[in-house]
Amino acid sequence: MKIAKTVQEMRMAVQAARRTGGNLGFVPTMGALHEGHLSLVRAANATCDAVAVSIFVNPIQFGPQEDLAKYPRDFAGDCQRLESEGVDCLFAPSVEEMYPETSTTYVEIEGLSKRLCGGSRPGHFRGVATVVAKLFHIVGADLAFFGQKDAAQVAVLRRMVKDLNFPVEIVVCPIVRDPDGLAMSSRNAYLSPQERESALLLHRSLNEVERRFRQGERDPAILIEAGKNVLAQEPTVRLDYFSIVDPDSLLPVVELTGNSLVAVAAFVGSTRLIDNAVLTP
Ligand code: PAJ
Repeated sequence: MKIAKTVQEMRMAVQAARRTGGNLGFVPTMGALHEGHLSLVRAANATCDAVAVSIFVNPIQFGPQEDLAKYPRDFAGDCQRLESEGVDCLFAPSVEEMYPETSTTYVEIEGLSKRLCGGSRPGHFRGVATVVAKLFHIVGADLAFFGQKDAAQVAVLRRMVKDLNFPVEIVVCPIVRDPDGLAMSSRNAYLSPQERESALLLHRSLNEVERRFRQGERDPAILIEAGKNVLAQEPTVRLDYFSIVDPDSLLPVVELTGNSLVAVAAFVGSTRLIDNAVLTP
């Protein structure tokens, strides 16, 4: 696996990987890789001739009070994992390489950027869209792989790709969970054993909504209430949002006729976790 630290090195590494012809798959990450990330790498490997991954903890998608400084990092372990998955090139730039002092350009997806996590994390999706746009330009992949875990991120990036005519296809992979249902996340490393137990309520609240939905409940307000009630069982879980939205516009649904996204975000202790499920009539 070729490890590139600069934009120029990455462009050369991609060129070399592409020399065999065929298509290139790309998996952007912030590292501290777990099975969720690796599922994207495997999906890329299964459909692409060459695979590139990036590891970059993107400072501009973190708010001033957020966990940028303590975000988990394990570069040596990540390299080993990616090497054993057969990844061709890894882009691991420094902050200075990605954002020289002179850089002043950002990508703003109006409307969408303010919904779900964008509502409680101002500037978050602007930071995500800007870094992913840069990575897309640097890597020049044919397919890019993202997790359904971050469903709002998928909606924002799909919109960006469409609006700005990026020649890349976005592939979305299912949420990977621990055996007890907790959605895998680099941030799970922050949880104490007790908090990890409380964190299971996120998935349980979604299960409850799905159960009521399958029983025929079609009123979004009633379904949201049912989900919130599950979370309310545990005082250490502080709800950020519990919403049922259209998966593309991220606007609240009034009638559950098409596919709808049930999305939850909550603080467990000081750790902010997200999870979601799709309701299909
Ligand atoms: P990060 O949180 O590292 O996630 C990288 C990719 O892995 C994202 O597409 C995310 O949805 C996916 N992922 C994380 N946990 C997952 C799980 N349990 N199951 C399936 N997929 C999962 O998302 C980011 O980084 C950043 O915002 C990034 C896109 C890299 C831009 O900085």
